[in-house]
Amino acid sequence: NDNGLALTPPMGWMAWERFRCDVDCNDDPVNCISEKLFRDMADRLSEDGWKELGYEYVIIDDCWMNRTRDHEGKLQPDANRFPSGIAHLADYVHNRGLKLGIYADMGSFTCMGFPGTPLHRIPLDAKTFADWGVDYLKFDGCNSNALQQFLGYPWMSQALNSTGRPIVYSCSWPVYVGSLPPEVNYTLLGEICHLWRNYYDIQDSWDSVQFIFDWFFNNQDYIQPAAGPGRWNDPDMLIIGNFGLSLDQAILQNKAAIAINQDALGIQGRRLLKEKSQIEVYWRPLVDSASTVVFLSRRSDMPYKYHTSLSKLGYGNGTYQVFDVFSQSQLQPLSSTQPFTVSINPSGVVMWHLTPTNRKAVFHRLHRLHR
Ligand code: DGJ
Repeated sequence: NDNGLALTPPMGWMAWERFRCDVDCNDDPVNCISEKLFRDMADRLSEDGWKELGYEYVIIDDCWMNRTRDHEGKLQPDANRFPSGIAHLADYVHNRGLKLGIYADMGSFTCMGFPGTPLHRIPLDAKTFADWGVDYLKFDGCNSNALQQFLGYPWMSQALNSTGRPIVYSCSWPVYVGSLPPEVNYTLLGEICHLWRNYYDIQDSWDSVQFIFDWFFNNQDYIQPAAGPGRWNDPDMLIIGNFGLSLDQAILQNKAAIAINQDALGIQGRRLLKEKSQIEVYWRPLVDSASTVVFLSRRSDMPYKYHTSLSKLGYGNGTYQVFDVFSQSQLQPLSSTQPFTVSINPSGVVMWHLTPTNRKAVFHRLHRLHR
């Protein structure tokens, strides 16, 4: 979507992965889906350094609604769990310099059985969200058919635009129609949505993470060219910081990793190599002829010593400054022909940021690889 929003991938916090559809505020007042939860998260984002790093959106997922619409047909929040209403919550979030996201479903019911947004409700719901001061909409696709989705997703895009409020539009459409062309038209998605959920829901495990990124890179020829400023493939939420992975918040707050994710060129990375040794190499170009390389180990025995050189990875002649993103250390400058070895932990990665000392040399090569 070219309306100037989401020029880099939107960053923020979304409730679903951690809190799902926990609506029992009597038994579980701390974790239930309620205005208190979202106020707490807004406090955390604004007080614990997240906002300064770019985390901006606090996003409500499914299960915020009352079971019925109000007498005017409008969606309304559950009055026990959101007693102050969404507009009030939006103010609270805005007052902390953050933005509020909300969830609706293109269909008769949300995935968890709350009121959906069938076709004829689209203009009203878009207006309601805009009136409340919402800044981001996740539009899920349970309980509708392919024709309704074909009509509804573009219609909601129009309806949001005509409210006049800048609202980032996240479409779950592709995952409901098989994820790939010809059923999915990624060009059209890029025109109407700022991001879209390509594939299945993430769960709190490393298996789930692998399942999703394998699909993304096995199908990179279809989806990688679709991404760019204002139009992003969405592999679903980051799950680090929950229960299933061993990684910690240092990664979520790693400035170099965030800068790579938020690079202004917005060119999605690709898998370059899948070695017999179960090492994989990924690559992405960045502004100013910089680039990033990720070495991933799919092994489960011990740290693996991978031998290669930059020229083997497609780099042009020259010398490169190398910064190791997760150890946060500047390595020795590396000439493209010089062999080197990286040690990659089982199910771990080594991520490098590279800058050519002579920018011209590398540019042509990078350009060729990425059209
Ligand atoms: C399916 C979506 O893909 C999930 O991210 C989440 O929004 C659930 N629906 C909520 O019911």
